[in-house]
Parts: sequence; C-alpha cells; structure tokens
Amino acid sequence: MNRVIALIVAAGKGERAGSGVPKQFRKLAGKTVVAHAYDRLAAHPAIDGVLVVGDEEPLRAALGDRPLLGIAPGGATRRLSVGAGLDAIEALGGTGIVLIHDAARPFVPPAVIDRLLAALETSPGAVPALPVADTLAQHGALLGDVVDRDALVRVQTPQAFRFDDIMTSHRAWTADREPTDDAQMARAAGYEVTLVAGDPMLEKITRPEDFAMAEARYGQRSFRTGTGFDVHRLVEGEKLWLGGVPIPHAKGLAGHSDADVALHALTDAILGAIAEGDIGTHFPPGDPQWRGVPSSRFVEHAAALVEQHGGRIEHVDLTIICEAPKIGPYRDAMRARIAELLRLAPGRISVKATTTERLGFTGRGEGIAAQAAATISLYEDFR
Ligand code: CTP
Ligand code: MG
Repeated sequence: MNRVIALIVAAGKGERAGSGVPKQFRKLAGKTVVAHAYDRLAAHPAIDGVLVVGDEEPLRAALGDRPLLGIAPGGATRRLSVGAGLDAIEALGGTGIVLIHDAARPFVPPAVIDRLLAALETSPGAVPALPVADTLAQHGALLGDVVDRDALVRVQTPQAFRFDDIMTSHRAWTADREPTDDAQMARAAGYEVTLVAGDPMLEKITRPEDFAMAEARYGQRSFRTGTGFDVHRLVEGEKLWLGGVPIPHAKGLAGHSDADVALHALTDAILGAIAEGDIGTHFPPGDPQWRGVPSSRFVEHAAALVEQHGGRIEHVDLTIICEAPKIGPYRDAMRARIAELLRLAPGRISVKATTTERLGFTGRGEGIAAQAAATISLYEDFR
C-alpha cells in the first residue's frame, strides 16, 4: 500500500526567531510560512493527503480552507509532536509512506520529493542533505580544532519513511537525548536511511534574519494585467453615477446596481488580473440583492480578493467613452474616490475620457461605455 501522507509539524514556539508570533504563522511572500509548506507538499502528485500537528485555532486561520486529513495537538518537543502526528495517521488506518516535514521550511522543491520517494523503493528511510561549505571547528571560549567537513552533511526535511518502520522507531526511542529529527530515531532502531540531494530552498527559518533572507530570495513578484469593458444604456429618470461620483445630467444609466459603467469595467479589470471570473460571477445581475447597490461594493470586493491572494494593485487606467457629460470636471473627484476604494495613492489611478466623434451608440448619446486596465503584482507562486 503506497499511500503517501505528508505530516507537517507546526507546534513549536519559534523562540529563536523572536517576534512573539510563532514563525510558522508569520507571513512570508504574501502567505503564512505553514501555508507555503502545505501548498508545496499538497501540489505534489504523489502526495495523497496532509496532516498537520499544532494548535488548531491558529492553524485553521493560517491554512484557511485547505483540505486536511486532520490536525493533531503538538507535544513539548519536536519528537513528541511528530509522535502525535504518527498516532493520528495510525488512527486514520495508517499509510504506506510518510513524509515528515518542518513547517519552518516553507519552500519544498518537488524534485526533492521525487528523489525521496525514489529512494524509498529500496530503503526504509530517506533524507535530503547538503554538503557543508564553511570551515567547521570545535570551540570553547577560543577556537578549537578544525573538523573534517567532507565527512559531514546538513540534514533537512522532508524526511521519508515507510510508515510502519518510523512508527516502530518512535516507540522504541529511549535515549535521554532529544533527537532533532526522525532519521536519528530510525537509525537508532536499526533502519538504514539513504541520503538524497537536498536543496538550499529547504533552508529552515530559525532566526529573525532568516525571514528577510527568505523574503529576498523567494518574495519575487510578477506582474499581471487585466482588462474590463462595459456598456450601459442612458435613460431618463435615473441618477448618473460614473467612476463612483454622482454627476448632474439629464439622463442616467440603467442596469445592474447603480449602473456605474466605469466602476464595472474597473472591477472586471481587477478580477481579470487575478483570473477570478467577472463581475457577474461574483454579483449575478439577476440577483435582486444587487439592485440599486453602489458599485463601490464591487470594486472593494475585487480589491479584497487581490489582497487575499497576497497581491497588490499597482495601477489602474480607466477610459470613459461618451459624448456627454463632459468628464474633465469630474476627473479628479473620480480619481480620489477610486483611490479611496482601492486604498491607493491617486497617482496610481488614471481616468481618461473620449468621444466617438458622434459615431455609434455612444455618439448618439444612447449609452456610455467604459474600458479599464488594472496592473497587479503577485508573488511568483500564486497558483
Ligand atoms: N516543532 C513542533 N513541536 C515542538 C517543537 C518544534 O512541532 N514541540 C516543529 C516546529 O514548529 C518546526 C519544526 O518542529 O516546524 C522544527 O523545529 P524548530 O525549528 O526548532 O522550531 P521551534 O521549536 O518552533 O523553534 P525554536 O527552537 O527556536 O523555539
Ligand atoms: Mg525547537
């Protein structure tokens, strides 16, 4: 039975990393450290499920609606936390293979998982390891003798084991020393542990400066652009809203909500940049609850989605297409209102207008059209 379960231990206090909030719940490149670890493991096709060890409430908050096999309460040491996770997996019926991983190692390269699983075909355990680059020496108050670094490796996680073997190893552990990983327990129980190539991406976040380092290495943002287009009919007896601003005019726009065609195009542009459907997906036009509501609600909803994805709106550019009213006198009021809705500086909001030389429906004053572009920056591993 080669079911593979990933077990993430996230019950530590993160004392060496400082800052009050345990490191696994701090945000890095737009999401919590434990969510990064989860996403990298869960995305691997060989992994069938993820179980997490730690405090339920902050874990649920950090992981949102990501599916879990369970959350097991942590123990006083890493060994006991892993043990609690293994017991929880056993209670679920056990598994063929378990990958035990530190939440504090957020970036798990899929190739490392491939190497571990390949090694397990002939070995009861496998761990990723890296050579030591620095000179190593013993010390007291003064520098002592150099240690041969060629004989040493730095051992990382995830560590892969046949489930029954690591279970036996944990139960058999009697040494009064606390092991810092599971491979030590497997070896003490007599199981061979194979070394596969580790990865610098798997560096553990341990000290405060590790956050800045990880952010600089993995917090690269990429840019995405979305576009939006909308048209509404001009009719008598409606109030005219454009770009979030009321405008005195003989006619107003008819349609969904307050029919602010400019904010609708803008909402679609923002949703487009994060590939989250369109305004109708989120606010179906047939749904009576959106009748007459201010379109600012839609813009705010789209901006909140960007924020949920760890993204940032960099710039929006709106063009309103109509013969009348004249947009110029209201341009700055629209920019100020949109800036307020998106919580951006007005310098990042462009509002333009054009006529269509009296041609077409806009030229005849039958309706107003608007188009928008939104530029958003997102962290590289956003979906
Ligand atoms: N861990 C755990 N239960 C413990 C101790 C540690 O689940 N009682 C987990 C941590 O959450 C971390 C991993 O084991 O993901 C590696 O441990 P470490 O880096 O030492 O984390 P902390 O113990 O949280 O940090 P510190 O030792 O600085 O307090
Ligand atoms: Mg610790």
